[in-house]
Amino acid sequence: MKPAPKWQYDEMKPCGVDFTDIEEVAAYDIMHQKLRDYARSSEGVMQRLGLGSGSIVIDMGSGTGAFALHAAKKCRTIYAADISAAMLEYCRQQAEKQGLSNIVFCHGGLLTYEHVGDLADAIVCVLVLHHLPDFWKQVALKRFRTMLKPGGRLLLFDFVFPSWEENSGAKIEDWIQAVGVTANARLAQEALIFVRDEFGTYDWIMEGIIKQGWISSDLYLHTRMNKDLDCIANN
Ligand SMILES: C[S@@+](CC[C@H](N)C(=O)[O-])C[C@H]1O[C@@H](n2cnc3c(N)ncnc32)[C@H](O)[C@@H]1O
Repeated sequence: MKPAPKWQYDEMKPCGVDFTDIEEVAAYDIMHQKLRDYARSSEGVMQRLGLGSGSIVIDMGSGTGAFALHAAKKCRTIYAADISAAMLEYCRQQAEKQGLSNIVFCHGGLLTYEHVGDLADAIVCVLVLHHLPDFWKQVALKRFRTMLKPGGRLLLFDFVFPSWEENSGAKIEDWIQAVGVTANARLAQEALIFVRDEFGTYDWIMEGIIKQGWISSDLYLHTRMNKDLDCIANN
């Protein structure tokens, strides 16, 4: 692998929620599984992307394997890439328990992952892009295009901030509190860290970044609940 230029953002430097300890990662997974139906949402992603038994998919920022473990049961090969060695190890252990041998684990990220092998049919990137500052978000999106077959698809899901006209502080407080009520105190703390230490951005900035990064007529993009951004784009 070519060494990164000195001016490149160091994505390996942890930012925000701590994913470096495998016990923390296990606790994170248990909490998320209480709130998210991994199988159901993964099935939805597979259908939206038109994935099947012959598909090659890159799960960028694969985490504990919320998508990768499910998709591996139905696709040809899943490349699970993450900057957290603990996340990768946790996911690898789950794959082993489930007898899955078609996941390729890659210690690399949005800016450093180098895809080798056949080009992918799809890239799935869920709740990951906000770990990069805005300039680097677009660099990452442009890199994705080089890993996909012509016509390959990207599914991007992340949080974005709406352009509140006033009192954004109160709105942030309300959101963090609502997360605590609908989920629990631990997830409310993750929400707080997301706002304070990570690089979530405005919906209109994210829309611009996606449009510039994916000069494509087949761009499906919508914001949900004014704070999630959910997009599918064709290469
Ligand atoms: C909130 S978790 C989401 C994990 C998974 N996609 C899911 O849906 O559950 C964010 C993941 O992104 C990873 N991550 C953070 N920065 C990254 C980067 N620059 N490139 C790739 N993965 C990154 C973290 O290590 C973590 O596993």
